[in-house]
Amino acid sequence: AVRRTGGRLEIDIARVPAWSAAMTEPTAVVFLQARVIVVRRDTMTFTALSAECPHAGCGVSIVDRQRLLCPCHGSAFDFGGARLEGPAPSGLRQLAATVSPTSGRLLIQLD
Ligand code: FES
Repeated sequence: AVRRTGGRLEIDIARVPAWSAAMTEPTAVVFLQARVIVVRRDTMTFTALSAECPHAGCGVSIVDRQRLLCPCHGSAFDFGGARLEGPAPSGLRQLAATVSPTSGRLLIQLD
């Protein structure tokens, strides 16, 4: 369901389930091997973040309600990638993400 081609990642959007049909809250799924976090804001609105913690490079791997947590030293980020607390000097890097109208897959630019 996750395919990498050069500097681009393709993810099946079914892998990022909606929290509820009404989409009252965004959801986030961590693709740790690909080092990417995908946030689904409504049915077809996605944003992507680098899962690499700006503190010491650990994978930000924990979704706790509406926060993303780094297990190494406890940095926390919101679903927009902004730093909330912990030793990370900055937020998570945002990655360009678009839904392909032909394949229905999410295309994420990694660099
Ligand atoms: S590497 Fe993430 S908090 Fe240190």
